[in-house]
This record gives sequence, C-alpha cells and structure tokens, in this order.
Amino acid sequence: MKNIPVSWPTLNNKEISSATKVLKEGWLGLGSYVEIFEKKLEKFLKNKKKFVCCVSTGSDALLMSLMIAKVNRGDEVILPSLNFIAGAQAIKFIGAKPVFCDVEEKTLCLDVNKASKLINKKTKAIIAVDYSGNLVDYEALHKIKKKYKKIRIIQDAAHSFGSVYKNKRVGTFTDIVMFSFDPIKTITTIDGGAIVVNTKKELNKLKAIRQLGFVVQPNVAFSSKKKITSDVQLVGMQNRMTNVHAAIGIEQLKKIEQISTKKKKLAKNYNRLFKNNSNIRIPNSDFNNVVPFIYYIRVKKQYRDNLRKFLRKKNILTGLHWTPNHIYSLFKKDRKGSMQITNNVGQELISLPYYTNLKFSQQVKVCNLINVFFKKKKL
Ligand SMILES: Cc1ncc(COP(=O)(O)O)c(C=O)c1O
Repeated sequence: MKNIPVSWPTLNNKEISSATKVLKEGWLGLGSYVEIFEKKLEKFLKNKKKFVCCVSTGSDALLMSLMIAKVNRGDEVILPSLNFIAGAQAIKFIGAKPVFCDVEEKTLCLDVNKASKLINKKTKAIIAVDYSGNLVDYEALHKIKKKYKKIRIIQDAAHSFGSVYKNKRVGTFTDIVMFSFDPIKTITTIDGGAIVVNTKKELNKLKAIRQLGFVVQPNVAFSSKKKITSDVQLVGMQNRMTNVHAAIGIEQLKKIEQISTKKKKLAKNYNRLFKNNSNIRIPNSDFNNVVPFIYYIRVKKQYRDNLRKFLRKKNILTGLHWTPNHIYSLFKKDRKGSMQITNNVGQELISLPYYTNLKFSQQVKVCNLINVFFKKKKL
C-alpha cells in the first residue's frame, strides 16, 4: 500500500513550464526572474516601505539577517529552543552565543515575557519563530524593542508565510523578517529563502553579501553596454537565488490564496475530527488568520514514539517538529532560561500528514487509526 506522506508540494505543469522556459533561455543564475520574484513578493506584502532580497535557502536568510542586525562574535541572541536548528547554527557560525528561551503553551511560539528576563548587556538580537504559522506576541516584543533600542528583532517566518497579525501581513511589522521556500514550505522554490528589510541600504548590503560582496549584480554587469567593473566592499557568500528557482516561486506565489484556503480547511477538519478524542491536544490556533505550515497534535509523552511507529506500520508518515535545541550536544553549554513548557512539549508533538492534495478520506483514516491506537491502550 502506498504511504500517506507527511508533506507534499503543490506543484503542477505551471512550475514545470516556467522552469523549462528559463532553462531554454540560458541565463540560469541570478537574473531578471529573481528581480521579478522579489518585486512580486514586495507587492504581496502590500507595504511600500519593505524591501525583499531572495537567497538560496531560509538558513542563509537567517544568517544574513544576523549580519544585517550586526550580530558579532561574543554577542548574545535570544531564540526559542523549540525550533529548527537553522537559527542556533547561524548564531554559532558567526561566533555569537544562542540563549535558549521557553515557548508559550498556547502558540508554541517564543514566550516574550520569559525572553525579556534573559536580556543582558550582550543581547544584540531576538529571533522570534512563528511555530506552524502561529504568531509570536509581537505587540509585547515591540515593547521590548522600544525599551532596549539597540536590540534588533528578527522574525523567523519560515512557517508563517501568508499569515496575518492584527490585519497586517507577516513580513510587514517586524524589523527584519526571513522566509523559507524549501521543498516542504507553504510555497516552494525547491530551495530558497528571502529577507525583508526596512531600507534600501540594508537591501543593497544583502544583495552584495549574496554575491560574494560584488556591488554590481552579475546580470547587470554582463548586460550593460558600458564596461562595468564591480567593487567588492564587504565579506560575502555565494548564496544567491537562481532564475530557475525564482521562476518556480513566481508560479507558486500565484497560488498562495488557493494554498492558504486549502490548508486552513484541512486544519479545521483535523481539529473537528479530533474534538472528542481526549488523548489528543489539538492546536489552539486562529485558522482564519494563520496559514498553518504543519498540522501538529500533542499526546502524552509515553505514547508519542509508539504512536508514530504504529502509524508508520499502517503506511502513514509523521514528522517531529522539533527536538528542543538545548538538548543537542552542540548547545549543551549555552545559556538558557527555564524550559518548563519546551521540555514537555518536545516529547509530545507529532506532525500529521498535511498538504493541499490530502483528501478528507485520508484525514479520516489518520484519525481513525489514532483512535484505534488509543483504544488498544485501553485508557
Ligand atoms: C523555523 C525555521 N527556520 C528556518 C528554516 C530554514 O529554512 P531552509 O530549509 O530553507 O534552509 C526552517 C526550515 O525548515 C524552519 O523550519
């Protein structure tokens, strides 16, 4: 029997044709399609004061966000421990120090109150991670920003592309915002990421960083009738987005409303199907404003791994978002606050199959099997 995967991209011939067109045209690297995708993302955000720079991955977008925030060796950056590993790795890569914070019980996002207690003289930035599209309490976070003017807020919106906070689109209300467009994200460019900043100066810095420090972008340099040589003024990486990836992104962005509507509907279905199962805690999210990236449930920790194995045997794949970062060997010595919620939640979470072409009958099957598992346990 075929597996029900945990995630699946929303791709069709539109993306294939667009990528093929670019391949045939021949300019594969950073070029006009990347510029078009950036402009379309800016238009999608509906905020003329925001500038978008596309790069090769969300992980690099995080690293570059830290560079824009001028985080240096020895500085501290507060972030939730219930997190993908990319944020903490980017901080380490720079030689700065991650400081791990707990999450809120309701949203599984950074607990801003607890984060404020971890601030000290070395704190240079706070990375706020939107867990599965749920949104951090940005009002509270902006109060911190007002009090400690030098602290930059970086919104890790890898999960929340398309979500809305107090009538504002994600990407428009925080200092520095990053998106991921990796293979399983709400929209994908296969691999890709973006950083949203407030000034052209920051945008130009990002554009140079993604292209080994060159001030003039290669497509401009090559196509100009004048001989253009480009200065190199800062340390950079080779982590541009390519035209092929951007062409796919342009098609994906056209589908965002369709994807959001379907994902909200699927999340509401799961919540309804699980309503009477007292062994399961369902997300307490406002699915009208949140575009969920994953659909997670919580079960008692003693059942979590066995439930995943049981579902695996029935050809249903599940995910784990995430192992709390402070548990990994690399981060054991790093500073952290109380991990009361994180330590529990980290052992309870399971991500269920969740993608736009998941059928209602498959959702029912997943729920029925979970019911069977708990009945066998005779709880
Ligand atoms: C919260 C979060 N931040 C950053 C990333 C990194 O994005 P990418 O996979 O595009 O490097 C991910 C990837 O899953 C993520 O979940």
